[in-house]
Amino acid sequence: MTYSRIAGIGSYLPKNVVSNKDLEKTMDTSDEWIRERTGIKRRHIAADDEYTSTIGLEAARRAMQDAGVGPEDIDLIIVGTCTPDKVFPSTACIVQRQLGVNGGGAMDVNAACSGFIYGLDIANRFIKTGGAKTALVIGAETLSRITNWEDRGTAVLFGDGAGCVVLQASEEPGILATHIHANGEYEELLHVRSGISVAYDKTQAGEAFIEMNGNAVFKRAVATFDNIARETLADLDGELGDIDWFVPHQANMRIIKAAAKKLGMPMERVIATVDEHANTSGASIPLALDQAIREGRIKRGDTLMFAAFGAGFTWGSAMLKY
Ligand SMILES: CC(C)(COP(=O)(O)OP(=O)(O)OC[C@H]1O[C@@H](n2cnc3c(N)ncnc32)[C@H](O)[C@@H]1OP(=O)(O)O)[C@@H](O)C(=O)NCCC(=O)NCCS
Repeated sequence: MTYSRIAGIGSYLPKNVVSNKDLEKTMDTSDEWIRERTGIKRRHIAADDEYTSTIGLEAARRAMQDAGVGPEDIDLIIVGTCTPDKVFPSTACIVQRQLGVNGGGAMDVNAACSGFIYGLDIANRFIKTGGAKTALVIGAETLSRITNWEDRGTAVLFGDGAGCVVLQASEEPGILATHIHANGEYEELLHVRSGISVAYDKTQAGEAFIEMNGNAVFKRAVATFDNIARETLADLDGELGDIDWFVPHQANMRIIKAAAKKLGMPMERVIATVDEHANTSGASIPLALDQAIREGRIKRGDTLMFAAFGAGFTWGSAMLKY
């Protein structure tokens, strides 16, 4: 049986770090409020000349070096992002050119904060069916570009960053199960009002910023993390005890803790980096994973559970042997 396995991982965070104290100077908020409600202490913000493609590219280069693969090996590139450089070409195509990769498919997947899990699910299916041998799955975001810095209810929550895994065909178990879902009924609870098609009439266009009903999103996120993790376990006849590490989407420390509690996962087995990165949407899981691997917490052979939830709503999970 052919599995797809994580052969390498890399991530990149913009150099510019903005702390809660920095935000206190420009909006009516406090370090204490932000830490208490979200667990966030600081976030990285892209420089003017950094784009989703440039930070995604750096994460991809690091992941390829970690896996020991070159541009000639890559036959699929998927970028999970809701902040692409341009309408077209896709950010994946821009990254492909800069990496010097020729051939194979390259595409963006917009599933908001679930973008990396959606990308992983798609790449896994390509590899298992022989459609690709070595894929890059990148989560990259410049959310600062769609943040309304005058809305304290959302501006304190988000950050920029990128993470990438190299997925390779292998006889050794790697990804064991993936699930993705969506329910478009909740579009307006978390959305960017203006886009391309909607904003064609400039008199109707609002500004293209994240808008959110925080309380409603919070409740749905907690319930969904629990359901999705249990669905994946049931699919594998598995038990929570089989999981060494739970790596959830990093939206908010309170959501992560509530989801872990519902699942009965002790926080010692949960990877949380939201304090340092804030919510980086599609980039948050590979960023958290990379950090935990570099710190020596996650090791080869460990069983991991990823779970994500985002605008749409979209949600998804993956269980794998690292
Ligand atoms: C956004 C969130 C932190 C707000 O926390 P909350 O406890 O729900 O707070 P509320 O929205 O009820 O606001 C409480 C008060 O704090 C105020 N407030 C909001 N943002 C603030 C900020 N940055 N600093 C200080 N006060 C703030 C509100 O205006 C409100 O004041 P009021 O009581 O005088 O009206 C929380 O709802 C949340 O985390 N939601 C999920 C968001 C998320 O993760 N989305 C992405 C999912 S992928």
